[in-house]
Parts: sequence; C-alpha cells; structure tokens
Amino acid sequence: MNNRLCDMFGIDVPIFAFSHCRDVVVEVSRAGGFGVLGMARMSPTRLREELRWIDDHIDGRPYGIDVLMPTTYSEAGDLKFDPDRLFPPEHLEFVRGLLDAAGVPPLPAAERETIIHSLLSELSFTPDESMAMIEIAMQHPIRLIVNALGSPPRELVAAAHARGIKVAALAGKPKHALKHKERGCDFVIAVGTEAGGHTGSITSMVLWPSVVDAVAPLPVLGAGGVGRGRQVAAALALGCEGVWCGSVWLPSAQSEVMPEIKERLLAAEAEDAVQTRCVTGKPCRTLRSAFTDAYERPDAPDPLPAPLQNLLWWGEGRTRVERVRTREFLTYPVGQIVGDLRGTTSVREIVYGMMAEMLSARERLDAMLE
Ligand SMILES: Cc1cc2nc3c(=O)[nH]c(=O)nc-3n(C[C@H](O)[C@H](O)[C@H](O)COP(=O)(O)O)c2cc1C
Repeated sequence: MNNRLCDMFGIDVPIFAFSHCRDVVVEVSRAGGFGVLGMARMSPTRLREELRWIDDHIDGRPYGIDVLMPTTYSEAGDLKFDPDRLFPPEHLEFVRGLLDAAGVPPLPAAERETIIHSLLSELSFTPDESMAMIEIAMQHPIRLIVNALGSPPRELVAAAHARGIKVAALAGKPKHALKHKERGCDFVIAVGTEAGGHTGSITSMVLWPSVVDAVAPLPVLGAGGVGRGRQVAAALALGCEGVWCGSVWLPSAQSEVMPEIKERLLAAEAEDAVQTRCVTGKPCRTLRSAFTDAYERPDAPDPLPAPLQNLLWWGEGRTRVERVRTREFLTYPVGQIVGDLRGTTSVREIVYGMMAEMLSARERLDAMLE
C-alpha cells in the first residue's frame, strides 16, 4: 500500500490494534497489521513477562505499547498510603447494597483487603510511575508509544525519538490533536464517540476529517466504530491514513475476555454500548449491565472522580461479580460496533476480512464513480 504509516513501520496494512491481550497484539502484527499492548493496570513484573512473551512470539514484526499517563490524578500518590479510607461510605454502601440485593456473595474481609492493596500496588498513577514502566518497555524492541490520556510530555517524546521509537496520542477533539502535534507526536489517533473505552462526544464521521485538517500533514488514524472493511474504506476516504481498533478483537479466539462476557458481547446491540462514568470516573463506553443501569437511577451517587470510581468498581464490584460470574452485572469496555460482532473467529481472519471488504468497497466506489 502507498501509505505513510505502512512505510513508517514496515507493515502491510494500516490496521492498528489496541489490546490488553498479548496474543491479540502478536496475531495482528503477524497478520501484517500493528499490535499495541495496553499496559494499564500491569505491575512492572507482569509487564516484563508480557513483553518477553511478545518478543518470543511475534517473529520480529513491529509492535507498540499504550500507556495511561494521567495529568489530572494529582492526589493519586497519596492513595497508596491510605487504602481503607479510599471510598466515601455512601458510595461503598450503594455498590454493596446493589450486589447484596442481587444475591452476589460478598468477598471475605481479608480477601477484600488483599485485592484492594494489590490493585493499588499494581496501578501506575503518577507520571514518575508511568515513566518507570515506559523505561522497562524501552528495553524491548517496541516501535511505538501511544499516550491514552492527554499529550505526552516533551521529555518522553525526546527519549523515545532518541531510540527510534515513534510516539502517538489519542484525541477526541481537534484542539487536543493539535496539542499532540505541538508536543512532537509522529501521528494522531482520532477517537470518535462510538469507541469502546474513554470517549468524547463527537462522532467519527465528523471528528476524523476535522482532525486530519487540523494536524495536516501529520498522519491520522481513525478510531471509534471500525470493525469491518467498509469502515476502513470510510476512514481512508475521510483522509485518515489507517485505523485503530479495540472492540473488534474482544470476542476473537485469541482474546482473554472471559467466556461469559464474550457471550454477552455477541448478544448485544449497538445501543447496549453505553457511555457512563460509573466504571472509571471518566466518560467510558462500556457494555450495559445491571451495574450501569443502577447508576442511571435517581438515588445513585454521582460517580467518584478517576481513579477512585475505577477502584470502587474493580475492588468492590467487578471482583465480586466475576468470581461467581453473575451475568447481568458483567460489563466490559466496548464500542457501538458490538452490535456487529456476531461470532468468534481468529484475529488473522478479522484482519484479512477487513482488507477484503475494504477492497470490494473500493471497487464498488470506482464502479459508481466511473
Ligand atoms: C476493552 C477496551 C479497553 C480499552 N482500554 C484502553 C486503554 O487502556 N488505553 C487506551 O488508550 N485506550 C483504551 N481503549 C480504547 C481504544 O484505544 C480505542 O480507542 C477504541 O477501542 C477504538 O474504538 P472501537 O472500540 O470502536 O474499536 C480501550 C478499548 C476497549 C474496547
């Protein structure tokens, strides 16, 4: 393909995959695309293991990492020292009351404490902690660092470039994309509201061309709502140089998502991917569940700011629910293309299917425009 991002990384197709699952990362890169490992919630030890495994299985193909480098978690450093006073009582009571009423067994007290402590010790909150994780990753042959929250610091961009590593960042508005460009990013990922995970409010259809124009001539990847070849063709038609996908890999054979969640994803419709602050504290698109529904009730507390709401859901809710796999409470970040996901196939088949459909979309357009 005559494409700057393919040239930048020596890849065959400009399909970039975000995944927390190393198998997906490896398979996308081996299929000719580019896998990016989400490092959020990994301890340094786990990160080393994951990257070593990727290096051993990826056949020398390029891959990257995605980091949460928060700029607004100013109090986060203190959390580690006072985990028992983390949550205001009414928030704890709301989540506990919800699960008690549904008959979800509580966690034993000792276990709960261990879970919260281990969650806190594994999360990298502060810029220093994130930098330490990036230092570990830089000891591996990573080709790309993507910053999930905000613009990467100049020092990070300089350190990456000195090692030949490219840097990119996610943007939900043209002004954020411009800031990424000013900080020296090599390309920008424009994320429409349809996306799984943290999203803004602008649709991909409107956002992609406006970001392309704002940061030109910097390349842009279109993200949010890409799960098939016609959507890849649309991204290219709107001026993007490729796509960045997260949701489409979730039900794949290589994904580590638990089978009960895969089943719920495969049964969901587009409107079941709801945007809520109750999972992380920031607007995040996730699979509708009894938990997200409860936060829509008038008696629900306003979700806590990030990262506290995330810890509340993870430590007090998700762990309890996933232990016994209470289906109606199971949720997972996912975008509106969930309504289009109807079966479990391999990552390679998904990549090849996208390319085949993209090419037939081009033929159809060519025929129409002749
Ligand atoms: C399960 C899941 C977890 C995600 N976690 C992160 C994350 O940790 N960091 C990040 O930059 N983006 C994260 N995202 C968002 C993706 O990077 C990407 O923007 C989004 O998936 C693209 O839209 P799509 O879901 O329609 O493909 C996540 C997405 C999903 C589906």
